[in-house]
Amino acid sequence: MIKFLDLNKVNARFESAFQQKFKTFLDSGCYVLGEGVSTFETNYANYCGTKHCIGVSNGLDALILILKAYKELGKLNEGDAILVPANTFIASILAIIEMGLQPVVVEPNPNTYNCEASELQKHIANKTKAILIVHLYGQMAKMQPILELAKDNGLLVIEDAAQAHGAVYNNKVAGSLGNAAAFSFYPAKNLGALGDAGAITTNNDELANTLKKLRNYGTSSKYKNDIIGVNNRLDELQALFLDIKLENLEKDNDRRRTIAKHYLKNIKNNKVTLPYYDNTLNHVFYVFVVLVENRANFRAYLLKNGIETLVHYPIPPHKQKGLSKYSNLKLPITEKIHDSAVSLPLNPVLETEEVNKIIEIVNAY
Ligand SMILES: Cc1ncc(COP(=O)(O)O)c(C=O)c1O
Repeated sequence: MIKFLDLNKVNARFESAFQQKFKTFLDSGCYVLGEGVSTFETNYANYCGTKHCIGVSNGLDALILILKAYKELGKLNEGDAILVPANTFIASILAIIEMGLQPVVVEPNPNTYNCEASELQKHIANKTKAILIVHLYGQMAKMQPILELAKDNGLLVIEDAAQAHGAVYNNKVAGSLGNAAAFSFYPAKNLGALGDAGAITTNNDELANTLKKLRNYGTSSKYKNDIIGVNNRLDELQALFLDIKLENLEKDNDRRRTIAKHYLKNIKNNKVTLPYYDNTLNHVFYVFVVLVENRANFRAYLLKNGIETLVHYPIPPHKQKGLSKYSNLKLPITEKIHDSAVSLPLNPVLETEEVNKIIEIVNAY
């Protein structure tokens, strides 16, 4: 069986380094916000090309904290509208709702699955204060026109880069283009921890300062609480593991692109729509999503032939029970993607023979 993602195999590559780090960690007696977190923050900020990185508990909290910090700084207010892709993973929308803001969902481009400036522009109204742009499936959104649109309309740009670690657009790494960016290091991500973890990147000193306080009860120094905060700190041990894996991220992303190119060149089946790729570094193929009309049938066929697949994602956010308030929205592009998306296995530990077998079986469908 070709697993969709063999996380054990992904992490076995780092086992001895993890064990060494764990021993140092145990011996240090310092288990919360220690050197591991600050070292990883420095290294990840350098990697993204930003002035700051603030390690936090997970990707959803990263998004919530950014919005909370902007409210704290008076840049966002209760009820403000935030533009967000309709076809994103639900966390992007949940963060907006959690902070008492209004999500305004926008249809993506039907070929790239990412939101574009032309469509975002149609939804700008008086209440609109920010664009929460998502680099979906690992492919960066066309940021230049989005940044210009934001500038012309006085909007903040927040990147949800949870699926795009290391993707490059116009020589800039994901997380360094907007005013702030949220990352998830959920185990399955391109840079994945061994548990929950996340980070925020930004070049803004004031925002970084506020975020550092917010994630740690609002404290500026021990037992001194400046603002009302939460406990959303990045776990020390996860930071140590992430720092080890960060060194390998470029290599892993290259391998992902090599496999993707192989699929794009060799999968030839008119029942299977392949994803758009411009052959640059702007895609890190967090997932390789194809569209197939009878998804259940296709997935069952692949499974019968020893290939596990997943769906990113089966139900669009506006059709989720938890978001029933939005169920009347008509979003045909989003709905079509969610009805027909299938993710083929693509990850850095997938063997070339496995890739070839997947191509052969998909072509014979
Ligand atoms: C686009 C996007 N945003 C946010 C998140 C939330 O991250 P986490 O699962 O770490 O809370 C995810 C994670 O799956 C994601 O894919």
